[in-house]
Amino acid sequence: MMRTPLRRIAVFLTIVYAAALVAALRAQQPASDGPRYANGTNLMRPADYREWIYLSSGMGMTYKDGAAGSTTFSNAFVNPSSYRAFMQTGQWPDKTIFVLEFRNSDSEKFINRSGRFQTELSGVEAEVKDARFPDGWAYFQFKSGAASAAPLAGSTVTECIDCHTKNTAVEHTFVQFYPTLLDVARAKKTLKPGFR
Ligand code: HEC
Repeated sequence: MMRTPLRRIAVFLTIVYAAALVAALRAQQPASDGPRYANGTNLMRPADYREWIYLSSGMGMTYKDGAAGSTTFSNAFVNPSSYRAFMQTGQWPDKTIFVLEFRNSDSEKFINRSGRFQTELSGVEAEVKDARFPDGWAYFQFKSGAASAAPLAGSTVTECIDCHTKNTAVEHTFVQFYPTLLDVARAKKTLKPGFR
């Protein structure tokens, strides 16, 4: 009489235990290194982007004729798994995240007599390729100390999109300024047709 309910309880407990085990194993798997969001579309500022793949630096780059040069450096980083995909294909996979870090610079300090070296952080921007956004790409600026940022909107993002569409060598990215990637895009023939 008692055996059937006991057996049912035993089967039930075994299933619960197995489900808990699967959940625990899933949690142990290495997390993906792609973009993380706070509420669907607000990008979390990646804490470890300095451990990602370094693409290159610009120094004092300006984009308008006659604009005065600046002494700001920009350092570009991409998440490692997307970098590895780009090396294979010359294209960016979905869930790619780029960080552009801005740093002030200084000269004639310590043993340095000429040339410039980087100093304090002055800004952090990001760009993601992610199908969750209507046109597959989104742009962000992190305010100082902010843990997350909403996707840029209005005239600010229009400028980002405009320049990152018309002037970029591969998709929406400035691969022409990342010399090692430019070689890969040439070899894989993924440069945009209009890019010279
Ligand atoms: C007038 C042109 C121009 C505009 C406007 C512009 N960018 Fe860029 N962006 C560049 C160039 C050139 C580079 C690569 C050079 C470098 O190393 O700084 C770049 C690189 C980047 C990168 C690194 C990945 C990549 O695409 O190569 C990010 C992230 C980025 N920009 C974010 C932004 C955001 C966010 C905005 C809007 C607030 C913006 N950009 C507006 C010209 C522009």
